[in-house]
Amino acid sequence: MPEQKSNQISRDRLAELLNEDLSREYQAIIAYVVYSQVLSGAEYTDIAAQLEIHAKQELDHALIISRQIDYLGKMPAVVPKPVRTSKSAKDMLRFDLENENETIRNYRDRVRQCDALGEYALAEQIRQILVQEQDHQIDLATALGVDVPDVSGGPKAGRLRKRR
Ligand SMILES: [Fe+2]
Ligand SMILES: [Fe+2]
Repeated sequence: MPEQKSNQISRDRLAELLNEDLSREYQAIIAYVVYSQVLSGAEYTDIAAQLEIHAKQELDHALIISRQIDYLGKMPAVVPKPVRTSKSAKDMLRFDLENENETIRNYRDRVRQCDALGEYALAEQIRQILVQEQDHQIDLATALGVDVPDVSGGPKAGRLRKRR
């Protein structure tokens, strides 16, 4: 039997992973709805307006992902990943940035997994979502005045890098 590569997964497993993605999209919708309204202070006016746009884009992503889960014959999840709150604007933006990093890592994996399964149209949909997630990441990093984090190499790359 040929060795199974990590990208070679079943359609059932793909649907499970997409349900995790959907829970992250719900989390993002809630975070952006709330943070966009409670961020106050003149220096945050621009980013607050951007977060409102993010909120609507995350809803579009949730709709696309749940459609694909249904296409794979599974029931879309209904529970968001937990949303952190803070009175500090910086904290809120940092939470958003960390979540976007995690989302981007996962969608990059998902594109590879969809390709491995021959689900090219699904991979294409996720690529388009990825373009917007990376825009969100750039908006947040810019507002925080930090470099855009390098999340290349999949979920394990960060851990490997820290060990050096
Ligand atoms: Fe999203
Ligand atoms: Fe996003």
